[in-house]
Amino acid sequence: MSCDTPLPTVESTLHESILVLTLDNPPVNALGVEVRRGLLAALDSAADNPAVEGILILGAGRHFCGGADIREFGKPPQPPALPELVKRIEACAKPVVAAIHGVALGGGLEVALAAHYRLAVRGARLGLPEVQLGLLPGAGGTQRLPRLIGAKAALELMLSGRHLSAEQALELGLVDRLGDSDDAQAEGLAYLGQLLASQAGARRTRDALALSDLAPQRAAIAAAREQAGKKSRGLLSPHHIIQAVEATLDRPFEDGLKEERRLFLECLDSPQRAGLVHAFFAEREVLKAPETRAAAPRALEQIGVVGGGTMGAGIAVAALDAGLQVTMIERDQAALARGRGNVEKVYDGLIDKGRLSAADKAATLARFSASIDYRALAQADLVIEAVFEDMAAKQAVFKELDRVCKAGAVLASNTSYLDINVIAQSISRPADVIGLHFFSPANIMKLLEIVVPAKVAAQVVATAFELAKKLHKVPVRAGVCDGFIGNRILAVYRQAVDAMLEDGASPYQIDQALRDFGFPMGPFQVADLAGGDIGWATRKRKAATRDPKARYVQVADRLCERGWFGQKTGRGYYLYPQGPRSASEDPEVLAIIDAERQRAGITPRTFSDAQIIRRYMAAMINEAANVVHEGIALRPLDLDIALIHGYGFPRYRGGPLKYADQYGLPQVLADIREFAEDDPQFWKPSPLLVALVEREANFDSLNHAH
Ligand code: 3HC
Ligand code: NAI
Repeated sequence: MSCDTPLPTVESTLHESILVLTLDNPPVNALGVEVRRGLLAALDSAADNPAVEGILILGAGRHFCGGADIREFGKPPQPPALPELVKRIEACAKPVVAAIHGVALGGGLEVALAAHYRLAVRGARLGLPEVQLGLLPGAGGTQRLPRLIGAKAALELMLSGRHLSAEQALELGLVDRLGDSDDAQAEGLAYLGQLLASQAGARRTRDALALSDLAPQRAAIAAAREQAGKKSRGLLSPHHIIQAVEATLDRPFEDGLKEERRLFLECLDSPQRAGLVHAFFAEREVLKAPETRAAAPRALEQIGVVGGGTMGAGIAVAALDAGLQVTMIERDQAALARGRGNVEKVYDGLIDKGRLSAADKAATLARFSASIDYRALAQADLVIEAVFEDMAAKQAVFKELDRVCKAGAVLASNTSYLDINVIAQSISRPADVIGLHFFSPANIMKLLEIVVPAKVAAQVVATAFELAKKLHKVPVRAGVCDGFIGNRILAVYRQAVDAMLEDGASPYQIDQALRDFGFPMGPFQVADLAGGDIGWATRKRKAATRDPKARYVQVADRLCERGWFGQKTGRGYYLYPQGPRSASEDPEVLAIIDAERQRAGITPRTFSDAQIIRRYMAAMINEAANVVHEGIALRPLDLDIALIHGYGFPRYRGGPLKYADQYGLPQVLADIREFAEDDPQFWKPSPLLVALVEREANFDSLNHAH
């Protein structure tokens, strides 16, 4: 029998004496205001209805509940607040069961924690991922979960944000029962029926006893604090999570909830939360390129890779790890053997670390073949070229691909800088040609720039996005230009860094300032890791066409002339006496920089760390604005995601253009104009930045314009 549904987002149905409340707010049953109101009203009517003996909470569709409605953060709160609703569930006099399928995350798991009994069907995933959004569980999770499973396990879940399987949740005592079928409603009805039959009453998590032995809890908190001090530098919410959990030990439950609320609101108001939520939505928005809406992808089973060097081998591993068939082509048998070796090395490394068995390696490599004969690519659905960065070499490869590949095969280049339009136009099927710009190491780095040349078919672009999905990459659509999105911006902020170096900052101060800002490595560490030789070759190639009026800092050339290419040669900007981990500062490098200053007639000055960040970010933002202005990036958010996933930009700052909005665009423009007094050639305000400042608008307004 169907009762009156209080609101369309919570369906309420009576099954004999059990009231089934189904959250129905597609796609993930987020706990938006309508759902909260609906659930509260349903609980009220259940309390008053003598026909109801127990309550079962479920989710409609694929999931139990994905948590609070993230879109409401930063907007005026609307009652009932989630913590109030959750309290209300726990306070119910009649037994409440949560039956979980799909995911129960964040506020969704907190609803389940407030229920008196929990059941999860196989395949369900449970977690408190708030930390990934710069938050802490704010609906009682920090107070209830430790009482249920102890501080150690609770902290581990909340600080990692990871998802537990139903089986793991059972083992931890987070759920009481596993459902055998995947029908959460049937399983939940059966479970609650048994509870009612055995007269099990309401059982409240707030009264659970996992914290009764205090010593191990305090030890867990101390350990978490030490760990967070090292690993979560600069982040607010991990520290607040630990503080909230500490309150479970020395405060009564209600006081602990108040402390949780206070800490939650601090996180909610922080720019870190805004940056992380921006990144969350932007990662989903980048998938919605115009071509993915317009066309369906082609079939993708067999992948070809031409070139088995750093990138070709990494791409092959990424495709093998995704379960695809991979054929590698090299120019001769010796190079082919090296290419195969490069692939095997990755798996051997995992075996050495105990993360892979020899049998798994063999099973994976059974999907791998290698040849020097292009005809081995005849059945490939998609081929990625990763040979030397040389137009003639690439065109020769594409000519072969044009000759041997089946009709409809997608032909991709992993070029870093070259014009893909030129490559496309050199063969008979330009509509099948696209750029797939992977980042090194290609089996690890998440970013995949999908570079869209003029004549490419929408289906081919859609297939590239499908490939990214299969490889678990983050795809960002980019237009054709020198360096596409990321490398083009990198080239510009590198120039700003080099100018500061020559003007008086040391490479070590610059690196430290940028690490403190949140980058995992500073730009000189990155240069040493990537190897100075590649950039040196490019600079020499472009020397003839370089604008003679542009400032050219020669420090990097001086290092390369000495053969100091970075980690692989044991020295670059840093010394590496015992490999990459042994980096130390090099007085000889400082002397070379000094000599360069003298040669250029520069009197060195000091830079504060804040001044370094101002210049670095102004250069990055300005070029980023040009990239958006020219349509190379579809929206500011695409660019933000590219810099986060390909260049180590701190996620909690949301990307360079989210950071620019927070910093204030008038201030960015004022900084650029100030720096232009020294070097007007380099510091030219982007027309888009100027226009936005004039309109009193921000970059985010452009994210919603499409
Ligand atoms: N609120 C609002 N929208 C959400 C949402 C949420 N909690 N979770 C997902 N969505 C949206 C996504 O933005 C996406 O929208 P779109 O279709 O317009 O792009 C849509 O739902 C589908 O999401 P996915 O593409 O990610 O779908 P999947 O099926 O791949 O994954 C999921 C589903 C595992 C639930 C994943 O979306 C996810 O991890 N969501 C975030 C979960 C989370 O962080 N919850 C905690 C929220 S904070 C909280 O609860 C605070 C509380 O403690 C007070
Ligand atoms: P690499 O020098 O490590 O490997 C190139 C491989 O291509 C060599 O194994 C070589 O034998 C092979 N090769 C050359 N000509 C060939 C031909 N005609 N047929 C078959 N194989 C041939 O170079 P790397 O670093 O892997 O770069 C490859 C491409 O990827 C370049 O276009 C580069 O710009 C791009 N790229 C490089 C990145 C990096 O960090 N190394 C990052 C992103 C893109």
